[in-house]
Amino acid sequence: MDIDDPRPHPKAPGPALGIDRAMVTHLVHAFYDEVRRDSILGPIFDKRVKDWTPHLEKLVRFWCSIALMTAEYHGRPMPAHMGLGIEPNHFVRWLELFAETAQRVCPPEAANFFVERAQNIARSLQLGIGLIDPLTGQLRARAR
Ligand code: HEM
Repeated sequence: MDIDDPRPHPKAPGPALGIDRAMVTHLVHAFYDEVRRDSILGPIFDKRVKDWTPHLEKLVRFWCSIALMTAEYHGRPMPAHMGLGIEPNHFVRWLELFAETAQRVCPPEAANFFVERAQNIARSLQLGIGLIDPLTGQLRARAR
């Protein structure tokens, strides 16, 4: 397997929806361009991400691992999101911006796939960092 361009897994959901590595790369770059300019999300990333090149490469590997099942992301998103001062409105904005970007740069079926996955992951991140009360399913005011 070529380490720089791993082939999609035969059972990966992405290729049937027209998703390839170039589309993932385009989406990730377009999304974080928006995030960096955003008045709600920008400051959180500014504080934490000093070098965008490795961050974007990591996020391309993350989304390729999901859409193309390339198993090339080995990070742990949960701890990475703790202690960032993230509140529920940040997630609302993140998902809004992600959906807008996906709809702008991807064909509809691919955009739907990315948005659905992002919503599910956002929900588990919010549970994991304590923004959603696991007993009631309700949002808390802020992370513990
Ligand atoms: C309120 C919304 C969010 C904010 C403000 C946020 C912010 C951040 C920041 C600042 C980092 C860099 C952490 C570091 O390098 O120390 C990061 C990493 C990351 N984020 Fe988010 N994020 C949000 C939501 C999401 C969602 C919904 C997803 C997935 C769909 C996601 C996926 C990731 C991944 C995969 C990483 C890399 C983790 C690693 O180091 O392996 N984030 N995020």
